[in-house]
Amino acid sequence: MKTVFTIFSVLVFTVISPANGCPPSDRAALLAFKAALHEPYLGIFNSWTGTDCCHNWYGVSCDPQSHRVADINLRGESEDPIFERAHRTGFMTGFISPEICKLTRLSSLTIADWKGITGEIPKCITSLPFLRILDLIGNKLSGEIPADIGRLKRLTVLNVADNQLSGRIPSSFTSLSNLMHLDLRNNKISGPIPGKAGDLSMLSRALLSGNMISGPIPVSICRIYRLADLDLSMNKMSGVIPPCLGKMAVLATLNLDCNMLMGTIPTTLLTSAIGNLNLSRNALEGNIPDVFGLTSYFTVIDLSHNKLRGPIPRSLSAASYIGHLDLSYNHLCGRIPAGAPFDHLEASSFMYNDCLCGETDLF
Ligand SMILES: *[C@@H]1O[C@H](CO)[C@@H](O)[C@H](O)[C@H]1NC(C)=O
Repeated sequence: MKTVFTIFSVLVFTVISPANGCPPSDRAALLAFKAALHEPYLGIFNSWTGTDCCHNWYGVSCDPQSHRVADINLRGESEDPIFERAHRTGFMTGFISPEICKLTRLSSLTIADWKGITGEIPKCITSLPFLRILDLIGNKLSGEIPADIGRLKRLTVLNVADNQLSGRIPSSFTSLSNLMHLDLRNNKISGPIPGKAGDLSMLSRALLSGNMISGPIPVSICRIYRLADLDLSMNKMSGVIPPCLGKMAVLATLNLDCNMLMGTIPTTLLTSAIGNLNLSRNALEGNIPDVFGLTSYFTVIDLSHNKLRGPIPRSLSAASYIGHLDLSYNHLCGRIPAGAPFDHLEASSFMYNDCLCGETDLF
């Protein structure tokens, strides 16, 4: 009995993973994935031959224990010698075959910067329970983000920037409880940011610029304790800037430029941890709060192209550091104060206001 069992196990082992290589079903899925793509210049798929897809298949790696395919890493812009030899960056056409969803142990899927890959993100991708990294930046993917994306409980990185994705941010999005890095930049995504965005408690970078996202900035975002970089620029965001953004522990970059935001600039933003603040090209009004002080440290503060009135706050000279300041194209009036940081700022920072005049040589 024992012998029979042993022979049986050996048989099963042999069938499932020949020579410790990948299972034939994983190999078949990879070959179907390859068949839907066309890479004319570099020959990256030339190595995808033979039975053992776990060794020497360009961009493929397997889990050392299970011998299942765990990572697909295909980057069209990389330092790999294959690119140096060809003297060019990558280009690929075709589409991402849903057969990839048969790689049920996949933990990271990177198909980045191939410029010509079209079609949709396969909907079945949300059935890959171990997926941690999905990086599809720099292709020509269209269609929507899969509605049940929230099923990817282990997902830490979602990067689909520089594609042609449309539709709304699905409401299931806010269930991505491990998401740390989100990049949706430069697509055609519309509709609002889900009100429960604050549930994304692990998020540290949220880059959504260059879409058609509308509606208010959800106040719940202020609950995201780890958020360091929030970029909502070049969208159609409306409403006021939530003052609680200036109370966030580690928020260092806040880009809200090129939207339709109104109301006044919250005083909290000017005394916060934020060091890069761009509020340019909105419809902000009222005075610039006169609250700068020792905690104000700005590499960049751009308030240009708004409807700001009143004087330049005197307290600006009390800020620890102001690298780049832009107050142009507003309705400011009065004297430009003397002293740091005004000594090193250019006249263009103050251009096109109603009645600014300088003690310095700026004008
Ligand atoms: C702020 O945003 C505007 C509009 O998008 C852009 O033109 C400007 O360069 C940005 N300012 C800085 C200092 O990066």
